[in-house]
Amino acid sequence: MSELFDLAGKVAVVTGGAGILGRGFCQVLAAHGARVALVDVSEASAREAAETLNAADGTDIFPVVCDVSDPHSVKSMVEAVVKRFGRIDILHNNAATKSRDLLAFFEPFETYSADVWREIMSVNIDGMFLVAQAVGKQMLAQGSGGSMIQTASIYGVVAPDQRIYEGSQYMGVAINTPAVYSASKAAVIGLAKYLATYWASHNIRVNVLTPGGIESGQNDVFRQRYSNRVPLGRMGRDNELHGALIFLASDASSYVTGQNVIVDGGMSCW
Ligand SMILES: NC(=O)c1ccc[n+]([C@@H]2O[C@H](COP(=O)([O-])OP(=O)(O)OC[C@H]3O[C@@H](n4cnc5c(N)ncnc54)[C@H](O)[C@@H]3O)[C@@H](O)[C@H]2O)c1
Repeated sequence: MSELFDLAGKVAVVTGGAGILGRGFCQVLAAHGARVALVDVSEASAREAAETLNAADGTDIFPVVCDVSDPHSVKSMVEAVVKRFGRIDILHNNAATKSRDLLAFFEPFETYSADVWREIMSVNIDGMFLVAQAVGKQMLAQGSGGSMIQTASIYGVVAPDQRIYEGSQYMGVAINTPAVYSASKAAVIGLAKYLATYWASHNIRVNVLTPGGIESGQNDVFRQRYSNRVPLGRMGRDNELHGALIFLASDASSYVTGQNVIVDGGMSCW
């Protein structure tokens, strides 16, 4: 059975690999035998994340700096990964951004800046397009299929319950889920479905991993209000996404494409 989930001999690229969830994604892919490129826009974070993971687990995770919203940077990233590992079999298209200006990111819809909207879209969906395009070309050239996983969000599937944000904070800032985040994540799901049929004849499978809210430093008010909306009664832990990721990345999901695996404690079922 464990062979089904074995990634030995495979090369995986994880964008946003230095983020809260990305580090664990790189770690679990490497633990299942993949050679992993940890891709992030921040050189310092990418290097630090790879060094920390490699020191802990004796892995050889390869940090690559890349701005996924920049086609030239994406092309160089793919070249660097292929130069290092020779091929790419798994793409975890996972990077997303909050604006550099957190207050502008959480601005109410009525006064939301078009510039901030475009800034978010340029990473959350344009970035996924550019990386899928560049890695897809590489997979096509290799001729042996591949697996792409794109991280969406529960708020690309259902709308947020606005009542949970009263008194809620994250990193000391009053929070909400801006419309641009929902819109970008819904687009991620549409792109994955499109590519699933587009590349099906080449056995490049494309699926979505949709996390619900994962605990990562939100305040107690938010945690409690969010948890009240979840059938399992709590927020998720980052490692609770790992089983679904390995399933989608490996041959265990060889007949699964164009699907959205929702890991949300049941939140979207009522
Ligand atoms: N954490 C959650 O609760 C949660 C819930 C639902 C969905 N998600 C999704 O999961 C994914 C990972 O989330 P996270 O919590 O680790 O976020 P995070 O902000 O911690 O990590 C995102 C990473 O992407 C990188 N990044 C930003 N812009 C980039 C660019 N232009 N090019 C390359 N890299 C860039 C950042 O530097 C960061 O390391 C995201 O797609 C997010 O939307 C997260």
